[in-house]
Amino acid sequence: MDVCLSSVQQPGCLGQEPSSAAGWVVPKEEEGLQKDGVGGPPGGSNRIESTLHSLQKFVPTDYASYTQECYRFAGKKIVIQESIESYGAVVWPGAMALCQYLEEHTDELNFQDAKILEIGAGPGLVSIAASILGAQVTATDLPDVLGNLEYNLLKNTLKCTAHLPEVKELVWGEDLEQNFPKSAFYYDYVLASDVVYHHYFLDKLLATMVYFSQPGTVLLWANKFRFSTDYEFLDKFKQVFDTTLLAEYPESSVKLYKGILKWD
Ligand SMILES: C[S@@+](CC[C@H](N)C(=O)[O-])C[C@H]1O[C@@H](n2cnc3c(N)ncnc32)[C@H](O)[C@@H]1O
Repeated sequence: MDVCLSSVQQPGCLGQEPSSAAGWVVPKEEEGLQKDGVGGPPGGSNRIESTLHSLQKFVPTDYASYTQECYRFAGKKIVIQESIESYGAVVWPGAMALCQYLEEHTDELNFQDAKILEIGAGPGLVSIAASILGAQVTATDLPDVLGNLEYNLLKNTLKCTAHLPEVKELVWGEDLEQNFPKSAFYYDYVLASDVVYHHYFLDKLLATMVYFSQPGTVLLWANKFRFSTDYEFLDKFKQVFDTTLLAEYPESSVKLYKGILKWD
């Protein structure tokens, strides 16, 4: 996982500036999509039309300024539109570490066609990486960051991944059975990066991790450890998940854990 130069206008980057407060400009490359969907992802032209419409529909009006950051994952350039005005609109160190791990362990993880849920996806780097690896990804977060998330996902996956990622609202611990009934939603992997920090929803976060862990589900959680509350969360996590430390990144204080729900 490499990070390229960071600037507002990266030469050669995919990302575009929003045209105005009213919406996004559909970039030329997307205007030129083949209408019959040939050469594009499964789902055909209707899916592409509707995703382009949603690309135009979502307007992250709360952010006054943006930057575009370039990352390189599995030989592909990923451009993420970020804003320092929201925790959910910047890429955090846990996301970089998790992407690095995914890149280095593709064979054993086997994301091809795997069903993957990301919680607290933020600007979407991890979900984009999982999509590039062939997974069927649902990226989730709070409502106010979904516009930027969807924008980044579409910009980086249209026409170049087997499955177009989906974006859904998921507030930790809220209406899970209603919005994600277990009978209809099964995930092979649940991904989470830097979802543990100084906030009031840690119990709801853990409950959400438990909720989505069905038999066979693997949870991959990468986090920068800063506060005593981070370690308290880890202790609670270990009580309910069989926990393996998969990797440590001392330069960023990130640890990556695999969790499999204890069923006894
Ligand atoms: C520190 S950011 C990490 C973003 C991204 N995963 C990354 O590593 O770059 C934490 C993310 O969790 C989301 N989040 C915080 N509280 C949440 C809640 N109660 N329900 C759902 N998402 C929440 C934020 O919107 C934000 O996108």
